[in-house]
Amino acid sequence: MSSDDIAVHVPASVAGDWFRSAVVYQVYPRSFVDSDGDGVGDLPGVIGKLDYLHDLGVDVVWLSPVYRSPQDDNGYDVSDFRDVDPIFGTLADLDRLIAGLHARGMKLLMDLVVNHTSDEHPWFVESRSSEQNPKRDWYWWRSSRPGHEAGSAGAEPNNWRSAFSGPAWEYDDRTGQYYLHLFSPKQPDLNWENADLRSAVYEMMRWWLDRGVDGFRMDVVNYLSKEVSLPDGPTDPETRYGDGSRHYVCGPRIHEFLHEMHRNVFQGRTGEFLTVGEMPGVTVEDAILFTDPARGEVDMVFQFEHVMLDLEDGDKWRPRPLELTRLKASLGRWQEALADRGWNSLYWGNHDAARAVSRFGDDGDHRVQSAKMLAGILHLHRGTPYIYQGEELGMTNMRFAAIEDHRDIEVLNHHHEATTHLGRTDAEVLAAVAPLNRDNARTPVQWDATCGAGFSTGLPWIGINPNADRINAASQVNDPDSVFSFYRRVIALRHEDPVVADGDFMMLLPDHEQVYAFRRALPPVEMLVLGNFSAVEQSVEVGDPTWAEADQILGNYPMESTLRLRPWEFKAFRRSSRR
Ligand code: NOJ
Repeated sequence: MSSDDIAVHVPASVAGDWFRSAVVYQVYPRSFVDSDGDGVGDLPGVIGKLDYLHDLGVDVVWLSPVYRSPQDDNGYDVSDFRDVDPIFGTLADLDRLIAGLHARGMKLLMDLVVNHTSDEHPWFVESRSSEQNPKRDWYWWRSSRPGHEAGSAGAEPNNWRSAFSGPAWEYDDRTGQYYLHLFSPKQPDLNWENADLRSAVYEMMRWWLDRGVDGFRMDVVNYLSKEVSLPDGPTDPETRYGDGSRHYVCGPRIHEFLHEMHRNVFQGRTGEFLTVGEMPGVTVEDAILFTDPARGEVDMVFQFEHVMLDLEDGDKWRPRPLELTRLKASLGRWQEALADRGWNSLYWGNHDAARAVSRFGDDGDHRVQSAKMLAGILHLHRGTPYIYQGEELGMTNMRFAAIEDHRDIEVLNHHHEATTHLGRTDAEVLAAVAPLNRDNARTPVQWDATCGAGFSTGLPWIGINPNADRINAASQVNDPDSVFSFYRRVIALRHEDPVVADGDFMMLLPDHEQVYAFRRALPPVEMLVLGNFSAVEQSVEVGDPTWAEADQILGNYPMESTLRLRPWEFKAFRRSSRR
């Protein structure tokens, strides 16, 4: 087939958006670099690695929260939106980070956590002080269920479960009412129905933009609008509570709120900005609306469909093998749906997920090949790719020997609930949480083979993966065959070749159980991309054997002109019909 057979459509509304050819790198600061030896990563540590990031070639850094916070959920519980927590440094450090990034042509995305605050945020302190306080309505306060005594078991206003186990309500005896917390009790949910609260958030966002940040990654932003009657959800015998998600995932006013935010924060501002909404449970139909530039909501969303396929009933503690055909069907559907309007984000992992190579590749014998293959496949989709720190080194999951080695509130609370209320043994729970718990991705970045892995000279807040002696940046940055060097090449390809940023996407071989194959096209150029998701050699038939004669522009084995794929092999071919 020649490229002339392809109807290529590049929508005028978004063509030229700078982020189409950009790559974002996520820094989870607590685990990046510790400059002062207290065992926790910090902003001076990030500043010290700006040349590393620049050398890798990324365009944007997304910084997980560094705001003042009691750190109940590692900073996703903010007690002051306009200051830096002392464990990470100072506002002056943040200004230096912004300046250092800008000086190198990179941008900074702040994490924006406004579905909830910390219970130590002054807004909540005021809100809980009395029912008459003007900030009372900034959070969700409700009385106990009728007929139940406030504070007694089962008296919560509804049956919703919190994401971190237990009920989503906390009783507060100061006023005899409960407040809603979809996450920990130290993360009360903000009530976005209140217009004053919304204005205060927009003002804070403008303050950050005035300071020089280039946009926001918006934490669970599709939870902002709740059905105000807060109805019960379907009950779940496993957790003893109900699932309220249908009443707050993409709730009734969510598009209105995000449009209002966009109008109040970004409209009329000159510059190049980026907004990405983290949206668990978002459907592709909704994502089209959220990211349609004409609607002025967000530039792209983090969707979760492709990271739910290896879970039984969506339960991360019940992992199951991933079927490649389902992964292709899902990602392919998102590619197709957002081809004309809107834009995709692309990711394998982040600070809430397992390490990409352990989850989707082979972190044993084929670690290097499979880490590169995953990078090649993801980055050559249409959309903006996100790299999670250490992914560019092929860092792997960590084996935690005991629950005491864990630090994450989610896994600790689950372990407690499962062993005390659900009759599971410690060993059963540890085995169940091993593949997907969030601490896997939160072990320190492995910079070198020294004792603290170049992360810290002190006692790290969480264990360092013992494989740091083999898997580390120092051994990779100057090695042309390393995972790092491969990432560098695939990032450069997006910058240099418009077919990557702008070309149409066509999934091939949807039913093949081991091979991921697709074509990109921006006439007269087209690209064929192949990845073997197995250790078994594959002969690939894409209906056009002449592809083997095209230029192979990227691969993770010594190049050869065939459509055969060795274990976990990745190949990208490019040709132009004007030959
Ligand atoms: C999503 C964040 O990525 C996660 O780390 C956090 O625990 C929850 N939102 C709550 O803020």
